[in-house]
Amino acid sequence: MNRDLDFTVKIGNLTLKNPVILASGTAGYGFEISKFIDLSEIGAIVTKSISLKPRKGNPPQRIVETPSGMLNSIGLANIGLDLFISEKIPFLKSTGTTIICNIAASSVEEYKEVAKELDSEEAIAALEINVSCPNVKDGGLIFGNDINLVRKITEEVRCVTKKTIIIKLSPNVSKISDFALAAKEGGADAVSAINTLVGTTFDIWTRKPKINMVTGGLSGPAIRPVALAKVLEIRRNVEIDIIGIGGITEWKDGIEFMIAGANAFQIGTINFVNPKAAPEILTGLSDYCNKMKIKKVRELTGSYIL
Ligand SMILES: Cc1cc2nc3c(=O)[nH]c(=O)nc-3n(C[C@H](O)[C@H](O)[C@H](O)COP(=O)(O)O)c2cc1C
Repeated sequence: MNRDLDFTVKIGNLTLKNPVILASGTAGYGFEISKFIDLSEIGAIVTKSISLKPRKGNPPQRIVETPSGMLNSIGLANIGLDLFISEKIPFLKSTGTTIICNIAASSVEEYKEVAKELDSEEAIAALEINVSCPNVKDGGLIFGNDINLVRKITEEVRCVTKKTIIIKLSPNVSKISDFALAAKEGGADAVSAINTLVGTTFDIWTRKPKINMVTGGLSGPAIRPVALAKVLEIRRNVEIDIIGIGGITEWKDGIEFMIAGANAFQIGTINFVNPKAAPEILTGLSDYCNKMKIKKVRELTGSYIL
């Protein structure tokens, strides 16, 4: 690792030790992936979406492999806020990485309540507000597709917390930068982009969808060019910090997101394929900066040449 390199990046007022973040829903509550990697080396971990009450999620089949990606319809299964605080935060605290808690909800009030409760949890550095899950009937997609609701949710959460607020945006809209602007106007420090794209697949012999819920969220390398274009669109239209997400599998992909405008990036599906991807990406990024004589990794952000 290049010791002279300044690896730190900023998301709002929050400083991360490096730009590599584990994406929500792909690293559990930290414990699971800590068997494979030293979490203290990673920029941050985003928790599985937490809701006020526990959620069972959708019935199986809820994961299907697709060409160059996967479809999931987990449906925000999680242990709920109380158990998260009592059972998961103590471990997360011990990892030495920055903890970002992802919140999902079925109403504006629920987002507010969860955010308020987490505000007093010192171990949580930031809240990532998931307004964009395509796999739930109550909320999720509906919130993420309604610009006024995105602004409203952001405003309400801003009222109850001083923590860094990141709004996780849906790609399933025609102009994502308008949603980023609404998040900024509502008081968000940053946006993360993108959540999964709506997709489906059929079994040709039974003619039934392979996903029980019919549609699911597409993730993995298949979505990377779409995600890059969304990050670029936001960077060119709105002054706000961006966390890029979508199909990153190796260090080159993370660098592409930074060049397109991301301040940091999250890795998701690849964690299931290679749970050691995060430290490998860090090493590749460090070597690249060395070769390119880059002293501060954040110089890469928005450094595209058109
Ligand atoms: C199995 C699975 C579960 C996920 N669960 C969540 C979740 O609970 N909350 C959330 O905001 N995003 C969730 N996501 C979306 C990811 O955080 C990420 O935005 C998306 O997968 C795109 O990144 P990737 O292509 O690197 O996986 C999930 C993705 C997968 C594959």
